[in-house]
Amino acid sequence: MGAIAVIGLQWGDEGKGRIVDLLVKNCDGVVRYNGGPNAGHTVVVDNEIFKLHLLPSGILHKDKANIVANGVIIDPGVLIDEIENLKQRGFFNGELFISDRAPLLFPYHKILDEIEESLRGSFNLGTTKRGVGPGYTDEVNRSALRITDLLSDSFGEKLRRLWDFKVRLFPVLEGRIEIDRVIDEYHNYLEYLKPYIVDTVDLLHKLLSEGKKLLLEGAQGFLLDIDFGTYPYVSSSSTSIGGVFSGSGISQKQLESVYGVAKAYMTRVGGGPFPTELKDDTGNYLREKGKEYGTATGRPRRTGWLDCVATRYSCRVNGIDGIYLTKMDILDGLPEIKVCVAYEYEGNRIDYFPASLDILENCTPIYETFPGWRMSGTELPPDAKSYIKYIEDFLGVNVLGVSIGPEREAFIDLC
Ligand code: IMP
Repeated sequence: MGAIAVIGLQWGDEGKGRIVDLLVKNCDGVVRYNGGPNAGHTVVVDNEIFKLHLLPSGILHKDKANIVANGVIIDPGVLIDEIENLKQRGFFNGELFISDRAPLLFPYHKILDEIEESLRGSFNLGTTKRGVGPGYTDEVNRSALRITDLLSDSFGEKLRRLWDFKVRLFPVLEGRIEIDRVIDEYHNYLEYLKPYIVDTVDLLHKLLSEGKKLLLEGAQGFLLDIDFGTYPYVSSSSTSIGGVFSGSGISQKQLESVYGVAKAYMTRVGGGPFPTELKDDTGNYLREKGKEYGTATGRPRRTGWLDCVATRYSCRVNGIDGIYLTKMDILDGLPEIKVCVAYEYEGNRIDYFPASLDILENCTPIYETFPGWRMSGTELPPDAKSYIKYIEDFLGVNVLGVSIGPEREAFIDLC
């Protein structure tokens, strides 16, 4: 017994929510350890679609512990709306625990996110404008307030002091919010959330010492990682294996397996390099058939062929033990399917994922081309099997299962 981590291997939206939903059956609890209201995990249960931003996917299941750990940045208003929505729909099923160490988002984080994006002009990052970047910046700059501060009698005083500091640093914020109203609002949030707030580090270690099995559900994807992603076109948290530890407080000794989730093609929302992007009919086909529109923002996602170089980089850094390949059904019916196996830049072949955006933005993908296939029933046709085998060999990691539709049962187990 121990913990299992599920990490997105691309730019997010790989279908992690759905894989967590499959794996959760054999687990006692689900832990969110990074990201915040920028995340959007789509899970389909009993033909109902749920879009979760801050709550762990295990909340849709009976008798699971759901832990929002210290690495998650919390917008309490969003969290409460999400809880209320699930309660109204009769799907707030598990137990919920919220870390007292988690940093808080305030309305000025969202305002700063918007101002920063507009000042970047054509170089904007395409953030979700949920305030996540400015919020994590405050944490690193030691100017954040955490859930534990919300519990303290001096919360109002602390927030007022922080607001004065912010306005002096960013005069553009002057008059944008009424801090006394925000303080009252957050006191109300506290009343609602208080029953769920605990020391989740202590809780996680107790659960693990009782032999409970936990699933650590990553948000976003590895290529959006603050350290390893396509910087600066990244999110502001650690979406890698490192984030599992810093964002939850479990130790590496307790981690049993690390599973990666990759889409059978690639997508990205927002700006930044995307070497295999398709700006043609095939790209549109993938977007429409795959319903590639952002869960958090509704923005159309950019689409392209599977980039095995980038995905191998993700597997290597995160020590991936097995992969779940999602949305195989979207490739079904295409005349041919390509995967990128290297890049060409200024006449040189590059077979690793470069740090330089100049290279990534100007390289030409070198493709391996496969014949397309047509699925009938739930058997993978031989050409689809060859495609998977090629990916396994290239990445050096086995594909454990393949999703062929959004429903829970549309899944082929390859273990
Ligand atoms: P931020 O996390 O809102 O600051 O946005 C930074 C970048 O990460 C933007 O390109 C977003 O589109 C992207 N991003 C953030 N969260 C997600 C997600 O859950 N899925 C996919 N992309 C995301």
